[in-house]
Amino acid sequence: MKTDKWTTKWDQRYSVNEYVFSKEPNVFLTQNVNRLPVGKVLCAGDGEGRNGVWLARQGFMVTSLDYSRKGLEKARALAEEFQVEIELVQANILEIDLGIGKYDAIINIFLHFDEGKILHLHNQYRRALKSGGCLLSEVYSKDQLHYNSGGPKFRDALYEPEYYLRDFPGWTRHYLKKEIIVLGEGGGHQGQASVVRAILTKLEE
Ligand SMILES: C[S@@+](CC[C@H](N)C(=O)[O-])C[C@H]1O[C@@H](n2cnc3c(N)ncnc32)[C@H](O)[C@@H]1O
Repeated sequence: MKTDKWTTKWDQRYSVNEYVFSKEPNVFLTQNVNRLPVGKVLCAGDGEGRNGVWLARQGFMVTSLDYSRKGLEKARALAEEFQVEIELVQANILEIDLGIGKYDAIINIFLHFDEGKILHLHNQYRRALKSGGCLLSEVYSKDQLHYNSGGPKFRDALYEPEYYLRDFPGWTRHYLKKEIIVLGEGGGHQGQASVVRAILTKLEE
C-alpha cells in the first residue's frame, strides 16, 4: 500500500505508548451489539483496534482494516493482550474492493475522509454486507465544526443523517439520529460532540 500524507499523519499520531482513543470500545457499539448478527464483522478504519478486539472477545470473527501500519501494530498487541484472534488488513478502504455479500456486520466508527468520498464508501458497504447484515456507524456530523472534541475540520468530510437515507434506500432503520453526546475516548475524543449514529439492516433478498 502506498503511503501518503494521511497515512503518515495517522502513523505519527499512533506512535505513542498510550492508546489515542483508549483501549475501551465505543459506547454506541457496546450498547447495540445485540443488534449485530453473530458472524463475520468488518471493522472499517479500526485504528488501534479497540472496537475490533472487543467484538472478537464477544465471539465475532473480526477483520480489522486500517491504512495505518502503526495503528495495526497496536491492534495486534491489544488482541494479544486479550488473547483473541483478529484478521488485520492494511489497506486504503477507498482503493480496495470489499467484495460482495462477505460480512454479517460492518462497523464504521469515526471514519472520515479529506473529500466527499462518503457515497463511494457506502456503495461498497451496500455490496459487502450479506442480506440481513447490519451496518453500525457513529461519525461526526457537520455541526461538529462548532466543537473541539475531535474530527476533521472540513465540512465535506462530515456527515448528515440524510446520507444514510440516500445511500441505503429501503434498508430497515433501527436507529438514525444526529445527537449531541459527551465523548470520553482517550485523549483523542474528549468532550461534547455532534455525531450521526446509524444502525441499518440490509433487507433479506
Ligand atoms: C478517528 S480514527 C478512529 C479509529 C477507530 N475507528 C476508533 O474508533 O478507535 C480514524 C481511523 O481511520 C483510518 N482511516 C482513515 N481513512 C482511511 C482510509 N481511506 N482507509 C483506511 N483507513 C482509514 C485512520 O488511519 C484512523 O485509524
